[in-house]
Amino acid sequence: MTAILAPGLSRRRFIASGLAAAGYYTASAGRDLSAAALPRAAGGFPKGFLWGAATAAHQVEGNNVNSDEWVLEHLKPTIFSEASGDACDGYHRYKEDIDIVANLGLNAFRFSIEWARIEPEQGVYSRAELEHYRRVLEACHARGLTPMVTFWHFTSPRWFAGLGGWENPAAGDHFVRYCERAAKHLGDLIGGAATFNEPNIPVLLRWVFARMPQSPFAHSAGMMAAAAKAIGSDRFAYFITGNPEAQRDAMLPAHQRALEAIKAGPGKYPVGVTIAMADEQAVGTDSKRDEKRESLYGPWLDAAAKSDFVGVQTYTRARVGRDGDLPPDPGAELTQMGYEFYPEALEQTIRYAAGRAKVPVYVTENGVATEDDTRRVEYITRAIAGVQKCLADGIDVRGYFHWSLLDNFEWMFGYRPKFGLVSVNRETFERTVKPSARFLGDIAKRNGAPA
Ligand code: BGC
Repeated sequence: MTAILAPGLSRRRFIASGLAAAGYYTASAGRDLSAAALPRAAGGFPKGFLWGAATAAHQVEGNNVNSDEWVLEHLKPTIFSEASGDACDGYHRYKEDIDIVANLGLNAFRFSIEWARIEPEQGVYSRAELEHYRRVLEACHARGLTPMVTFWHFTSPRWFAGLGGWENPAAGDHFVRYCERAAKHLGDLIGGAATFNEPNIPVLLRWVFARMPQSPFAHSAGMMAAAAKAIGSDRFAYFITGNPEAQRDAMLPAHQRALEAIKAGPGKYPVGVTIAMADEQAVGTDSKRDEKRESLYGPWLDAAAKSDFVGVQTYTRARVGRDGDLPPDPGAELTQMGYEFYPEALEQTIRYAAGRAKVPVYVTENGVATEDDTRRVEYITRAIAGVQKCLADGIDVRGYFHWSLLDNFEWMFGYRPKFGLVSVNRETFERTVKPSARFLGDIAKRNGAPA
C-alpha cells in the first residue's frame, strides 16, 4: 500500500480516506445509518462492502503462555479436550495467512490482539508485542485488506484471572487501560474495531446447557481451584465458565469506556461490539423465546446502539419452547458442533440486531464446522442469500466475515471441529486452501452473490 501512496498523503490520512470511501463513516455524524447512502454494485452488495475471514489470537497464534486459558488447558482436571499448543503457528505465519486472504479476493481480515501478550504482567506492557501487531496490520494494508481488530476474544492474562477476572468489579479499569495503550500504539492502522467478542456467550451457554442432563461445566470448580493454586492466587476466574450476571455487569460499562478510549485516537474508525446470536424461534404459545432474547441480547444490543456498529455472529437457530431450548428435530442435519445446520439463521439475526440497535451491522462471524467442504459452500450460499435479502430491505449491512480463515483451536473441543476455509497440517502447519474459500473469494471479487 505504501507504494501507491499519493505524494503528500500520509499513511494515516490515506487509510482514513479509504475507509470513508468504503462507507465506514461520514464526516458529519461518525456513522451513517442509511444503506441507501452506499452506492450499490451490480451484484446487489454496496460498494465497499467488506468481504473477509476471521480468526482469534488464542485459536491460531500458538503458545499463548501468559493467558488464563493456557493455565486451564494444562491442568488436571480440565474441561479442555486438548491443549492449544502451537495452534496454527499464526503468530509467525501471519504474512502467509494474510496473503491467502488477499489472493482469494477478499478485502478484509478480522483478527484479535492478545491482551496476555501485550500486558503479560499487570501494568507491564510489551512494546515488542505491540510492534508485532503493528506488523500484522501493516501486512494487511500492504495487501489492500481492511483490518478489523478485536481487542478481546475470550482470553485474558493469567494475572487478570487471579484477580477474579470479569467477576472482579475493578476488571473494567484493567481492560480500559490495556485498550487505551493498544489503541495508542496501533490505532492509525486499524480499519474497524470491536471491544469484546461475544460478551454474552456465558448467558447463551446457560440456555444451551439447561436442556442437557449435565452441564459440561459441572466439574469446573476443581479445575478453577487447581488453576488458582497453579498461579499462586486464592482465586481464578475464567470468562466462559464464570458467573454470567456478574461478568455482564462489569463488561457493559467496560465496553463503553473502552470504546471511548479507543476512539480517542489515533486513527478514525468505527468501534462496536460483537454479539453471539442464534435465530430464536418460538415454539408454542407459552414459549420462553422473548425472555431468552431479552436476557441474552437486550443489554448488549442496547450497548451496541451507543456504538458505531453491531457485530452479528451467527451459526444456527434455537427453537425455544415453554421450558427453554429444544433439541434439534430428529433427522435434522447437524454440524460437528452438534447443533443444526441452519444458514438461514443469519438473515433473521441481522434483522433482529439491526431492528433493535439501529446502527450499521457487520457480520463478524458466520460459518459451519464440517469435514465436508461442499456443505460449507452450501452454507455460505444460503447465508449470503439472507444477507442480500436484508440489504434489499434497506438494512445497513456493511460486511461479511466468515468464521474461520483456518481450521483452528475450537476451545474446549480442541482441533476436531473444522470451521476453516483453509486446512492446516497439524505437524507442518502447511495451509491448504479449500474449494469453499475460492467460492467465497469469487463472491467477494464480484461483490455479488453466487449465480
Ligand atoms: C467464537 C469463536 C468460535 C466460533 C465457533 C464463536 O462463538 O467467537 O471463537 O470458534 O464461535 O464456535
